[in-house]
Order: sequence, then C-alpha cells, then structure tokens
Amino acid sequence: MSAPQLTNEPWDEHLIRYGMPFAPSLIARARGTLIWDIEGREILDFTSGQMCSTLGHNHPRIVEAIHDACEGALHLFSGMLSPPVVALSQRLAQMLPRHLSKALFLSTGAEANEAAMKLAKLHSGRYEIVGFSGSWHGMTSGAQSVNYAAGRKGYGPMMPGSLVLPAPNAYHCPVRHCRDACDGTCLEIGFDMIDAQSTGSLAALIAEPVESSGGVIVPPDGYWHRVKEHCQKRGMLLIFDEAQTAFGRLGRDFAFQHFGVEPDILTLSKTLGGGLPLSATVTSDEIEADCHAKGYLHATSHVSDPLPAQVGLAVLDVLAEERLNARALALGEQLTAGLHWLQSKHEIIGDVRGFGLLQGVELVKDRETRAPDALTGRAVTRRCMELGLSMNIVSVGAMAAIWRIAPPLTVSKKEIDRGIAILDQAITEVLADHAQRAIG
Ligand SMILES: Cc1ncc(COP(=O)(O)O)c(C=O)c1O
Repeated sequence: MSAPQLTNEPWDEHLIRYGMPFAPSLIARARGTLIWDIEGREILDFTSGQMCSTLGHNHPRIVEAIHDACEGALHLFSGMLSPPVVALSQRLAQMLPRHLSKALFLSTGAEANEAAMKLAKLHSGRYEIVGFSGSWHGMTSGAQSVNYAAGRKGYGPMMPGSLVLPAPNAYHCPVRHCRDACDGTCLEIGFDMIDAQSTGSLAALIAEPVESSGGVIVPPDGYWHRVKEHCQKRGMLLIFDEAQTAFGRLGRDFAFQHFGVEPDILTLSKTLGGGLPLSATVTSDEIEADCHAKGYLHATSHVSDPLPAQVGLAVLDVLAEERLNARALALGEQLTAGLHWLQSKHEIIGDVRGFGLLQGVELVKDRETRAPDALTGRAVTRRCMELGLSMNIVSVGAMAAIWRIAPPLTVSKKEIDRGIAILDQAITEVLADHAQRAIG
C-alpha cells in the first residue's frame, strides 16, 4: 500500500481551521497508546485520540470487525436492518437497566443528543432543555444550544428554550458558597433560576454524569438523586450523555451506575465505536412507543449501518474479555498517585480530580486564589508534545487551564510512568524558562 504523496505546500493550506490548533507534525500510524508522526517520532497518546480509542488505537479486534464487515455489508438503505445492528441492540439491552431497552444507532455524539432531545420534546410536548455550565454535547444546532463550554458567540440565536444550571464545581464554586466540598446549594439556586426563566415547558435536562469537558467535575454524593427529584417534580426527563464516560473509562460499563440514578434517555457515542463513528440513543419502550405513535422522525444516511455496529460489538466483547473496567480503576489509582506526586512537587498544580482513567489536573497561578495559569499550561502542553506526550488542555470560561488526562484503558503501567515523567520534565523546564525570563 503506498502512502499518499504530499506536496510541499503548508499542510493546512486547503483546510478550514475548526477550533484547536493543528498539531505540529503529521501522524502516520497509531497502535495502542502510541502514535507515530511521518518522521517516525513516537508520541504517547494521553487523550485516546478524541476520547474515542478506549481499547487503544487500531485494536486487532476492531480491525478484524472492519474486515468482517467488508465481507458482509458496509452500508444499507436506512430502512434495512442487518445482523450486527440487531445483535448490538440486544447486547446493549442486556447491559442496561431493564427500562432502557430501545436503541437507535447513529454516527456521532451530537446526532445521538439531537435524537434524544427530539424524543424528549415529542414525548413531553414541551421544548425547554436544561444543560450544565461547562457542558459539551456536540456541534449540531440543537446540541450546540446546550453547550455552555464554548462556541455560543457569533451564530445568532440558539434553540429557544435552552437553559443552564451551574455545574457542581467544588474547586471553583459557581455561586461562591462552598470551597472543596459542594453542598448542592448551586443546584437549588440553579433550579430557582430555571423556574424563573421557564415558560412552563421544561422537557428535559441533559448532562454527563461526570462532566468531562467542563474540567472533569465529579458531583458530590447524592447530587444526581437530587437532580432526578427536581426533574420528576417538574415532569422533566433526565438525559445522560455518556459519550466519554461509558464503557470502562470510569471503571463501570456506564458512569451512572456509580451514582445509582438511571436516566430516561441515554446517549452513547465516542467510546462505543472505539475510534469509528458510532453512536446510540437509548430509551424505554414507553417513550419509544409514544414517540413512534406521534411520528418520530430521525432517519439519517448512516442510521443502522452494519459496519460501525460490527465494530461496536467488538468493542463490547473486548471490554468484557480484557476486563477493562477493573483495569481502568487499578491503573487510575496509579495515575492518581503519579499526579499527586507531581502536585506535591509543583506549586502550579492546584487540583487533581477524577478517577479511573478520566482525570483532571488544574493549573493555577497560586493555590489560594486559584487563578488559572493558561499561559504556562499551554507552554507545558507544547513541551510535552516535543518530548513525546500528547495532552489535551481544556479551556472552560474562567477555568482555562485543565489537562484532561485520558489514556486508552489498555495503557500499560510503564506508559503511565513514562507520561508522568514527561509531564514532570516539561513542567520543570517551562517553569525554569519562565523564571529565567523574569530575571532577564
Ligand atoms: C459529552 C459529549 N457529548 C457529545 C459530544 C459530541 O460528540 P461528536 O463530536 O461525536 O458529535 C462530545 C464531543 O466531544 C462530548 O464530549
């Protein structure tokens, strides 16, 4: 197989820039936790691609599933079902609580959330959707309307009825009430505000059980029970978006299992496809039947495609066979210990949070004021890349310097140690450089 020929033009000359800066080198190959650029330089991937490759890059079982699909069918008329799609719907129904028994298979997380919000609207006959500050649910209009992390400016009105609740961020209390332990006051104030703004048409609340894009916010004990009560009181549905948190990253099949609260609608994406575009919207018989009777329409070109479904089945097989849930918890402890060691060494690390293989590290100018140190964060992230470690720094409003550390669940202990050592070196060098410049 020959590699595509590149001209000497700048790489991005014919590409629209869509957000984050492009990495400084072209990537040619990816396996497990490693990627290699076109010069053959090895880079440790602590972002699992875009949070999708939980089995590691190009897992042999995913490659095999793609081959199998090539022998069978890749794509079909949207009204045709195939054995992989039926099997995947059955497998999810077995894994999920009994009431979450009906699935719709789509391509992206945004699409799954669109489908979920449309189900909630049609079922309830209402239109208002509540999201959380710092949230990210995708780039299509409906999903973007409940994104409060970024991207709201410059595109005209969002969907009417998009409302926001403060996320329970104990490190930066959104209502300036708690410090380090959230007592849920933000939730009560938030729902008072929602009630004040609502036109009486509250359809649903959408949230990640652990808000990843918002900087890895783990809610306090009992929080989701209180949210569910608020929803039930108002006749709202609860939608959990488990794009990043399902299938092992937090040590369970689904993150909501940690909190003992089940959603009315669940969306799955990134981690279900293990690197291929596959998403699912899952709900109850009752909601599905009601919406169907009301004419629910969400047919897309790639709905129920056999290729991604075949891959999704392989992902679920490997998750069970390689006991990735337990592995994520055990390796997560090693990662936490490494990050706490870095925190004890470097004043700039204000907070380490999260568990399993989804952890957030917040960089601050000083530990008392907790003012974010975005400049140093970006410089260290760049230096990490030069040293062979790919890291994602998330920027959420005032909390502009949080690394979201999420290697594949197949990462080795050695690779975690190597990542921590590179981080240590990068922080040390960048801080020394800054100190030198301050003197000079
Ligand atoms: C929690 C969550 N939901 C939805 C999405 C959107 O998924 P996609 O980019 O596949 O549309 C993302 C993407 O980052 C996400 O993190």
